[in-house]
Amino acid sequence: MARRILVLPGDYIGPEIMAEAVKVLEAVNDRFDLGLSLEQGLLGGDAIDAEGTPLPEATLAAARAADAILLGAVGGPKWDSVERHLRPERGLLGLRKELELFGNLRPALLYPQLAEASSLKAELVAGLDILIVRELTGGIYFGEPRGIRTLENGEREGFNTYVYRESEIRRIGHLAFRLAQQRGGRLCSVDKSNVLEVTVLWREIMEELGKEYPDVELSHMYVDNAAMQLVRAPKQFDVLVTGNMFGDILSDAAAMLTGSIGMLPSASLDKDGRGMYEPCHGSAPDIAGQGIANPLATILSVAMMLRYSLAEPAAAEAIEQAVSRVLDQGLRTADIATAGQLAVSTAEMGAAVLAALDA
Ligand code: IPM
Ligand code: MG
Repeated sequence: MARRILVLPGDYIGPEIMAEAVKVLEAVNDRFDLGLSLEQGLLGGDAIDAEGTPLPEATLAAARAADAILLGAVGGPKWDSVERHLRPERGLLGLRKELELFGNLRPALLYPQLAEASSLKAELVAGLDILIVRELTGGIYFGEPRGIRTLENGEREGFNTYVYRESEIRRIGHLAFRLAQQRGGRLCSVDKSNVLEVTVLWREIMEELGKEYPDVELSHMYVDNAAMQLVRAPKQFDVLVTGNMFGDILSDAAAMLTGSIGMLPSASLDKDGRGMYEPCHGSAPDIAGQGIANPLATILSVAMMLRYSLAEPAAAEAIEQAVSRVLDQGLRTADIATAGQLAVSTAEMGAAVLAALDA
């Protein structure tokens, strides 16, 4: 039976980058005889426009039935005025939650060809290869109670709840330890245990898990220091594990070390390795419709999907090599072009990856 891939292009640059990623996916599907069947769905703003809700039932049902999901990006100013619970981001968060995609892998890998595009000096980032493991279905993103209320004196107050259960910390911890075993064997757990009780518990559980993984060297760092270390000496890290909000912030910072957030793919996995794959960047409304967005993060997300959810490492590698080859050829979208380099369009970059696949 054909394996089903649900494609959710999303908003603004979402459809532009997805068009290129789908071409690449279809090409490897043929070439490696993967037997994948692709279907499209609505999520986020496009779903609000068409169905009045950011996560339509049909999308959720298709997502549950799919072997893997490929997502572009959702959200943007067009929906700024819709009610909070109907915002495009709710669609994405709802999908993560409904499918229990708790394990978010965000690799920050520097392609040597892009060392000059990094916001840090080339020697600080040469060879950079770190993996941020972000908890994705808990923490302050989902904690209850939450809201904006009016106090007796008429003043409004916003509130959220930062909460993690032991079981939630354990499962992301196990995932991170196992990934560290497969990589450099070093895991840094990021918390704010000097202030926040939630993360006192987080640190305690990570320590406890560490005993089950004697081959992994576990360390701890406060999140403010981790942010500083990421821009001071990022190569000290192998795998970082942290909660939902800290992971959101640190992964954007880590992305820039690699030249552009336009290069970074991500995987969001459930306990069985089923997952959703998306670029780490957002829907970039400022450049939408111009055909200049970088499709490589989405194309590399296809590679992650093939590796982690579809057990097709050869196809994944073919895509990664094709990406490396187009960078060797000097092709750059605007976000990764340095002085004197002519920027290519989204479609030209996609076409170059396709051609490199056949090379
Ligand atoms: C991300 C994004 C999302 C998040 C937004 C779009 C809800 O920033 O995937 O990092 O905060 O998780
Ligand atoms: Mg983010």
